Amino acid sequence: MAEAREATDVAQDEDTGPDLASFLAHAAARVDAELDRRLPTVADCGDLAAAMRHLVTGGGKRFRPALVLLACRDVGGSEDDAIATAAAMELIHTYSLIHDDLPCMDDAKLRRGKACVHVAYPEATAVLAGDAMLTLAFEVIAAGTPAHRPIGGMIVALGRAAGWAGMAGGQVLDLAAEGAEPDLDMVRRIHEGKTASLIEVSLRLGAMAGGGGGEDVERLARYGHRVGLAFQIVDDLLDTEVSAEQMGKDVGADADNDKLTWPGVVGNEQARADARRLVDEALVDARGGREEALLAALAEKVLSRRN
Ligand code: IPE
Ligand code: IPE
Ligand code: MG
Ligand code: MG
Ligand code: MG
Repeated sequence: MAEAREATDVAQDEDTGPDLASFLAHAAARVDAELDRRLPTVADCGDLAAAMRHLVTGGGKRFRPALVLLACRDVGGSEDDAIATAAAMELIHTYSLIHDDLPCMDDAKLRRGKACVHVAYPEATAVLAGDAMLTLAFEVIAAGTPAHRPIGGMIVALGRAAGWAGMAGGQVLDLAAEGAEPDLDMVRRIHEGKTASLIEVSLRLGAMAGGGGGEDVERLARYGHRVGLAFQIVDDLLDTEVSAEQMGKDVGADADNDKLTWPGVVGNEQARADARRLVDEALVDARGGREEALLAALAEKVLSRRN
């Protein structure tokens, strides 16, 4: 891939156990290799493949695939069991970004430090690249998950989380609420739908792919729900606080589009406090498995991130 990351082992710090930065680099390198293997090439389908790869190659925090792998490890699974799911979650997330940036949605120009897909390619190609990434994600999970894992249940959970009851439904509410009066219940529904659903299901699927039992799957899903909501509250804050260069995407976009945002409803200070409280609640559910330290560190990182 254009900016391939080196596969590395996860470094162990003598006092604190595995180090978060090293785990994230390791997870990103593994998922990048899997994405490269699974995505079509220009020889397969020309511009459609180029558009599908445009945002995947280089840039992006790979937060959701890291969560998939971590949930798998937390329940004692091997990363090999969940790597297809990790790639699938990044495919669905990236598709959601391609569509989110379209002129009919947030009308953005910059994403992951480069031109949005609909700017670099014809708009119809961007729409279809998104469609192809969404469907490829389901194909990759079905083809790449070991047969003794609950693939049917994973597909059901993912369909729900990505569709009308999850991300797509949340995006509809987000667009419908442009210009609406401040309403905390509505902004919570929007954020749970458009962002927390995919983050929650990343944990759920990682745990299922790793062979986790029902209680662990639900514990990790709860962690994901809270971390996911905090993630979008912080995204709203960063849209007002950080430069486009640092974020790699348009900033000030929420104000420009008259979005209903969490800080827009409760103020920046209360929004920070709400994100903090959600992470504190997530820390409770980080306990109980093999990766408590990394799950806790990743939840904290959601609050301290600057991009
Ligand atoms: C951006 O997600 C969209 C939101 C749900 C806020 P990320 O902040 O994870 O974007 P990338 O993947 O790092 O580009
Ligand atoms: C996007 O929310 C959520 C999805 C892409 C599903 P935003 O519109 O706030 O994301 P950014 O700020 O453009 O990354
Ligand atoms: Mg949006
Ligand atoms: Mg947007
Ligand atoms: Mg945003």
